[in-house]
Amino acid sequence: MPDVAILGGSGYTGGELIRILLSHPRVTLGAVSSRHLAGKPLAQTFPWLEGRTDLRFVTPDEVVGGSADLVFTALGHMESVESVARLMDKGKKVVDLSADFRFAENAFYTRWYNQDHPRPDLLSRAVYGLPEHYRSRIAGSLLTANPGCYATACILSLLPLAARGILPPGVVIDAKSGVSGAGRNPKDNTVFPECNEGLRPYAVARHRHQPEIEMVLGEAGRKPAQVLFTPHLLPANRGILASVYLPLPAPFDQVVEIYRDHYRDEPFVKVKAPRAVPGVQDVRGSNYCHLGLVDDPSGKFLLVFSVIDNLVKGASGQAVQNMNLMLGLPETAGLGHFPLAP
Ligand SMILES: NC(=O)c1ccc[n+]([C@@H]2O[C@H](COP(=O)([O-])OP(=O)(O)OC[C@H]3O[C@@H](n4cnc5c(N)ncnc54)[C@H](OP(=O)(O)O)[C@@H]3O)[C@@H](O)[C@H]2O)c1
Repeated sequence: MPDVAILGGSGYTGGELIRILLSHPRVTLGAVSSRHLAGKPLAQTFPWLEGRTDLRFVTPDEVVGGSADLVFTALGHMESVESVARLMDKGKKVVDLSADFRFAENAFYTRWYNQDHPRPDLLSRAVYGLPEHYRSRIAGSLLTANPGCYATACILSLLPLAARGILPPGVVIDAKSGVSGAGRNPKDNTVFPECNEGLRPYAVARHRHQPEIEMVLGEAGRKPAQVLFTPHLLPANRGILASVYLPLPAPFDQVVEIYRDHYRDEPFVKVKAPRAVPGVQDVRGSNYCHLGLVDDPSGKFLLVFSVIDNLVKGASGQAVQNMNLMLGLPETAGLGHFPLAP
């Protein structure tokens, strides 16, 4: 069985990777790092692991120097670049959950992240890890850049139209994410009293997932794509809802058929019956994306609703889906569980 490890396993996406990988039938989770918890049992940080594993956190160097065939890097912005470089030098496969390898050109980092990428030479070696569009490239890659959580929900909501070249201009995306999307370290705007019972837009017209959405939709349609994307902080632990508004690009029945056709063989994307809408609670804890399609009574607009769990299809579940492809395992291995309800 392939041996896998997690660099940066004490955070939210790290915890979710542990949850999925410890019950994965085809890989062994051998090591999980944390700088400040090295030596401590995983179950001390993740109490739901009680009695289920004897693993203890190790140092990041132990993961980088270890024997894993594939390493997940689940660190913050620009924290993983050097470790990824070292892992690749040793011939290890890597799935990086950060944004550090999502763009092929340094110019994106200069413009959207206000800094030059420290290792632009590595950027062209990474494949963007959205299996629904880059499946065969991911299967052959050594380094997969796992997509952003909002980007996943938004791209999947529009990909069928982009791929057929009928994505119209003037797409408006109103998206909301649960607070775990901001990571485990408390921040001023994510501590309980600041977000509970509240709802606020943030990073308006500047959110870093916008260029990811436009990059993939542009590649799918072979022409530039532009969206107006506004994220909001939802006072819930998990879940992303993207409500997408656009001019109706074809008769509604035809649009429904296009989506059904596009996702017919996709294991994790489900298109609901026409005019039925999904909720974040329908996918909680699972790797699914549910899509709802509605036409407005005037027949002028299409509304697409896309929901995912930000920590699963938006991060760790998708990372495992990518791992499965990179290791030649069944794509759905370890990811078949139903969502949690209610
Ligand atoms: N949360 C989401 O829904 C989500 C969705 C998609 C993508 N992502 C991306 O996934 C990455 C991880 O997110 P998260 O939410 O899990 O963050 P998090 O909860 O803040 O966890 C970050 C982890 O990285 C470790 N770490 C930080 N700096 C490090 C360094 N210099 N060297 C080694 N380890 C370091 C931390 O461990 P110690 O401090 O214990 O060492 C911790 O385990 C981020 O890039 C984020 O943008 C997150």
